[in-house]
This record gives sequence, C-alpha cells and structure tokens, in this order.
Amino acid sequence: MPRQPIVARTLAELDRVTACYRTEVGRIALVTTMGALHAGHLALVRFAQTKARRVIVSIFVNPTQFAPHEDFGSYPRTFETDFAALRATGVDLVWAPKAEVMYPPGFATRVAPEGPAVVGLEDKFRPHFFGGVATVVAKLFTQVRPHMAIFGEKDYQQLKVVTRMAADLDLRLDVIGVPTVREPDGLALSSRNVYLSAEERARAPALHRVLRECAARIVEGKPLAAVTTDGAAELERTGFVVDYLAARHAETLAPIDSAADGPIRLLVAARLGKTRLIDNIGV
Ligand code: PAJ
Repeated sequence: MPRQPIVARTLAELDRVTACYRTEVGRIALVTTMGALHAGHLALVRFAQTKARRVIVSIFVNPTQFAPHEDFGSYPRTFETDFAALRATGVDLVWAPKAEVMYPPGFATRVAPEGPAVVGLEDKFRPHFFGGVATVVAKLFTQVRPHMAIFGEKDYQQLKVVTRMAADLDLRLDVIGVPTVREPDGLALSSRNVYLSAEERARAPALHRVLRECAARIVEGKPLAAVTTDGAAELERTGFVVDYLAARHAETLAPIDSAADGPIRLLVAARLGKTRLIDNIGV
C-alpha cells in the first residue's frame, strides 16, 4: 500500500511541503481537479507519475466557473472516496483549499483569457466559464509552482486556454494534455455522467459515435459544413439538444473552411435532458 498522501488546506501547509519537494532532485507535477474523481482523473495522475518525482492533486470545486443557474450547489463532493483513490494511486500531496483560502474577503482580480477562450464554442454557451477557469488555474499554478501541469483532452478548449495562459503570464511550466478516457461504449468519463438517467445513459454514447462518423466522412473528403450539419441532425434524432458540433483548427480552435486548412479537431456539446455533455476527437 502506498503511503498516505499529505492533505494541505492552507497556503502555509502547502508551502511547508512543496518547499521540501523543491530541495529534491526531480520534478513536481500538478493535476488540477474539482474532485468526484474517476478513471479519467486517475489516468492524469498515473501519467504525471511517469514524468515527475512528486505528484500533487488539487481538489477545489471552483465557484467562479459556474453561472448562477449551473450546478455548483449540486456538483458531486466526494472527498473521502477521492482521497482513498488518490492514496491507492500513490499521490504525494492533496491540495484542498477552502473557498475562503482561494477567494478571501476582498478578492478582486480576474484573469480574462482571449484567443482560444473566445472562439464561439464553450465560451458562447458558458460566457463566465473560462474567466473562472483561467483565474483559479493561474492561482493554483502560482500556489503550487509545479514544473508541469497535466490536463485532459476531454476538455479540449480548456486545455488550449490554460496552455495559452501559462505561456502568456510567464508561469514557467509545461502544460501537457492526456487523451480522453472512455467507457467501453465510447462515452467519455465525466463527473457529470452520474446525472444521467438509465435511459439517457443508454443514448449518451451516440456523442462519440457521431464524432467518429464525422471524422471518417471528413477523411473521405466530404465538405466540413455538410458533415457537421448532418452530425448535429443525427444527434438531435437520438434525443440530444445540440449546442454546437464544429470542425476547428486543432491548435487555434479558429473556424476553418476545408480539411486542407487543418489539423482538425471536432468538438461537440449537447444536452440530454438536464445534463450537458462535451466531447471531442482529432481527425
Ligand atoms: P474536472 O472536470 O474535475 O477535470 C479535472 C481534469 O481531469 C481536467 O484536466 C479534465 O480535462 C480531466 N478529465 C476529465 N475527464 C476526463 C477523461 N474522461 N479523460 C481524461 N481526462 C479527463 O476541468 C476541471 O475539473 C476544472 O475546470 C479545473 C481545471 C480543475 C479548474 O477548476
């Protein structure tokens, strides 16, 4: 059994432990999460362990990235089982600040990301989201000061926004993306999958299936606009309400007219009942 991870809840506790890590040979990796951990999060941890001597996992359900009508209050909070999973995986340190530690009274600064944060995908449907993510991730990076941070491709636009922010603010760390972990039927693991009813869960794999069909048609040379329009219609037939299904430049996330302008990433967000799911694949 690996050693019990240390849990830090204040900046002083965090600094005490990370100061020791910084005296060691070897690198420090950070995996940022909002808890409700599943095999996708743990894949990031295992990847981090192959790259770094010390792995720190943050658990913080960040209020500033939720809009008032979103699920901040009901977001699953499962610290005990999260801690047990991190312990079994051999994590060194869990950084779990309270909201008052992250956002003390008088807190008045926000990071306002542009570039990949303003391309009309998640930002169009959750306008508050990337400001909240960029602010909390910038704080997590400066609190922990890791050599590298590991993010999931599952949240592809977030990965690009964080990568850009870390470079633009000279945060001096590598942001590394890890492929999406999926259920055997293709559904991307997500903390929000627990919201799906049995009937919705049975329909949910269509999201990944349609992405794969779209990618295959693009490879065959079909025009991008027709492919994404047909894919969205297919999802609506399966019972989804589609926010977007788009073929974008895989690095900038800018719109593109033809496959020749690629590399292409296909990104989708769609709702099944009250649950909003996102997914993406490379072409
Ligand atoms: P959360 O949704 O908990 O995700 C934490 C990390 O796990 C992110 O990097 C996300 O992309 C990754 N992840 C989630 N599902 C995955 C899957 N199926 N396969 C691989 N990686 C997966 O994303 C956030 O939290 C927050 O926005 C955060 C960055 C912590 C800022 O609050």
